[in-house]
Amino acid sequence: MGKEILEDLRNTEAYLEIYIPERISGDFAGKSVVTVDQFERRDLDLLFNVAQEMRNKVRRHELALPLMDYVLANIFYEPSTRTDMSFQAAMARLGGRFISASSGVEFSSVAKGESLADTIRAIACYADVIVLRHPKVGASYEAAYYSKMVCKKLEKPNVPIISAGDGIGEHPTQGFLDLFTIVDKFGEAHGKTVVMVGDLKNGRTVHSLSKLLAKMDSVRLICVSPESLKMPPGLVNQLRYSGCVVKETPDLMGALPTADIIYLTRVQKERFADPDEYESIKDFYVITPEILSSAPRHAIFCHPLPRVSEMGTPEQQDILDADPRSFYFHQMENGLFVRMALLAAVLGKV
Ligand code: NCD
Repeated sequence: MGKEILEDLRNTEAYLEIYIPERISGDFAGKSVVTVDQFERRDLDLLFNVAQEMRNKVRRHELALPLMDYVLANIFYEPSTRTDMSFQAAMARLGGRFISASSGVEFSSVAKGESLADTIRAIACYADVIVLRHPKVGASYEAAYYSKMVCKKLEKPNVPIISAGDGIGEHPTQGFLDLFTIVDKFGEAHGKTVVMVGDLKNGRTVHSLSKLLAKMDSVRLICVSPESLKMPPGLVNQLRYSGCVVKETPDLMGALPTADIIYLTRVQKERFADPDEYESIKDFYVITPEILSSAPRHAIFCHPLPRVSEMGTPEQQDILDADPRSFYFHQMENGLFVRMALLAAVLGKV
């Protein structure tokens, strides 16, 4: 495809076809990370081993500063607390520096109508790695493509794009930290039953995590959602094709007693065109302490956060937070270690 045609493409989803992400295959250096499909088991093992080392070093304040001469740029076109700040913290812990549009993306040249391609071209001149969150599926693929092109033109090493979530597509680094949390708790994901609950249609974290789980042996996935918020059928096919047993059901109470891992998600308000539709479905599943009592004692209860009303009232949330099965704060902290490992890896420092 000619470059002029590429320039004319308005729909970033088209980049899912045009830009083919590189497989990691044991070598992260210089590679953009836009989908978990780039990763094999051994890549995940490597990432998780480094994340464990990072945790030990952070806890003991024994970090060498391998990214001292490096700069990370975060560019977020959607709100974020954990992903944005954990990447900043990860870079700081490794001795690197951090830049962003100083008053937010709405005060960058995006407000003047600049394209994503041009914004990425600019940032790739200033930073060594870019973390991008964007509302459109395929935006991270587009960014990875243009970063590679401008770096080639400037005859400098590639500036990897790390996706921090693209629309209802994927959220690879959340998937990594979720799987890391599961493996860290149980030793392995092999043979586990994972019950995913909530907005499985629009929730990008479950898209990445389910694909990662399908890379493990004998994982059983129970997808609990209302009919209108089911996992995308293409993804379910892909999971089954990889050998994962997938069951789809609206019956939360039937699924909970079989769970090793419960993964609850927020109904993604920002993806609904009709506010009334959101209001009518947002509390379809609320996991209160009473509901969680149906889950086995050994299970863990995960959530990518932020939570809204899907864990009930603030008082009910406090009770859930104190339950030993609640693992969402572990996930949150693990995000730091996994993102430290990933930054060091794509910058060739592991
Ligand atoms: C998630 C996201 O942005 O997709 N948040 C996060 O990064 N932890 C989940 C959500 O917003 O519901």
